[in-house]
Amino acid sequence: MTSLEHVSCRVRGIRGPTNGTKDASQKNVIDLSSGDSQKAGLRPLSFIRQVLAGCVYPPLLEDRTFPVDVRQRSETLLDACEERSVGSYTDSSGLDHVRHSIAEFITSRDGVPCSASNVFISGGSQRALMVMVKLLAGTEWDFPTGVLTPMPPPLTLPMLLDEAGVSLEPYRLNKDHKWAVNVDELYRTLTTARWRCKPRAIFISNPSNPTGHVQSRKSIQEVIRFAAAAGLLLLVDEVYQEYVFGDGVEFISYKKILFEMGPPYSDTVEMASFYSISSIGECGLRAGFMELVNIDPRVMHFVDTMLCTDISTPVMGQLALDLMVKPPKPGDASYHTYTEEKKHVENTLKWNCWRACEVLNNLPGVSCESAVGGVYLYPCVNVPVAVVTQAEEREVEAGALYCDLLMEEQAVLIGPGCSCGPPAGTCHFRLCILVSSDILEEALSRIQNFHRGLLESNPEM
Ligand SMILES: Cc1ncc(COP(=O)(O)O)c(C=O)c1O
Repeated sequence: MTSLEHVSCRVRGIRGPTNGTKDASQKNVIDLSSGDSQKAGLRPLSFIRQVLAGCVYPPLLEDRTFPVDVRQRSETLLDACEERSVGSYTDSSGLDHVRHSIAEFITSRDGVPCSASNVFISGGSQRALMVMVKLLAGTEWDFPTGVLTPMPPPLTLPMLLDEAGVSLEPYRLNKDHKWAVNVDELYRTLTTARWRCKPRAIFISNPSNPTGHVQSRKSIQEVIRFAAAAGLLLLVDEVYQEYVFGDGVEFISYKKILFEMGPPYSDTVEMASFYSISSIGECGLRAGFMELVNIDPRVMHFVDTMLCTDISTPVMGQLALDLMVKPPKPGDASYHTYTEEKKHVENTLKWNCWRACEVLNNLPGVSCESAVGGVYLYPCVNVPVAVVTQAEEREVEAGALYCDLLMEEQAVLIGPGCSCGPPAGTCHFRLCILVSSDILEEALSRIQNFHRGLLESNPEM
């Protein structure tokens, strides 16, 4: 979808900002909705691009254009491809070489063995998630399959569940406790869900998109105990695992905790955990993977079969996955540049989080909780009454209308979130902060102009 297609309706009767803003058509669109960091001004990591360039065009490896470790990695990855060409198909669940690299990465991250045969590479983590959800989908005694889903969810998750034909069973994240998962709420949702569907899985986003919450060890243990008691498959999106920046906060994988808990959990609780090159900003290369834990081999066979319909995952994305899980080591020629570039991204994210919260919390009617991980902020806005009224007339959400107006007036694209009323018109928004700080500053300035202008032009609120 192009950015402009998000603008679904032209609003009449609401006066836009009058404080000297230019027509939005004269501005570049700033997209803070999609998590596409390169579109929003962050540069790709040189090491990744250099190795990929060498793989695409091997004559580049014949001179000293690239550092020695880059040339070696390109050669190794070319050896892993059919006929040493990135233009060849691979097995549907990915190149063996890359699956082994991923298994080594998971083993070393968790201190728990991971077998390459449990790793499935796909054209993005969302593709792997879709395969798992489609496997679960079905109807039993007229009851559709249900998936317990966090509210707020990642933006595209409801659409994915809908497309797979499963019922979204919402569990509310606890806003009063920094958006933590509340086990009582999980049991409440399960009980309600059983009236209308057969709940088979629970989806978790950790670090959370869009709330920026990172689960503690205790919280993960509680969710695992819940999944075990309810007989649910854990679908764990850990795509933003390397972005944890809150003081004293750390990312711990579900797999690690599951195995710390030991039997019966470690050998019975079924889990699929997802990771993606989108987390290093290479979302357009389309590759991600999932690790399956405690899944029946016959089901794994079906996973393989379903991935076969893709014929092959994009090879460049697979190679980028290998580089993501096996970055340069101390002593390698690219180590310094790689770590500096990574540090720049991490520092940018941390700064952006602080700066966006500062600006947003200074706007009348806006509050924004700081994130401790992930790449999104989830501010809450009291949308002016005039916008709420217009939204009611048009039978659209007030938050969606606010986003459309912001896009029309200031060419800033943000994602609507859940309503957080009462009162009506109190809405959340999703704001991706994995963007260059200059672009964020420009976006914040436009958001301020828009919001203040809207308040001044509609003084009835
Ligand atoms: C929660 C979450 N999971 C996964 C992804 C990435 O999906 P994919 O790996 O298909 O690019 C995103 C990207 O925005 C995301 O926000």
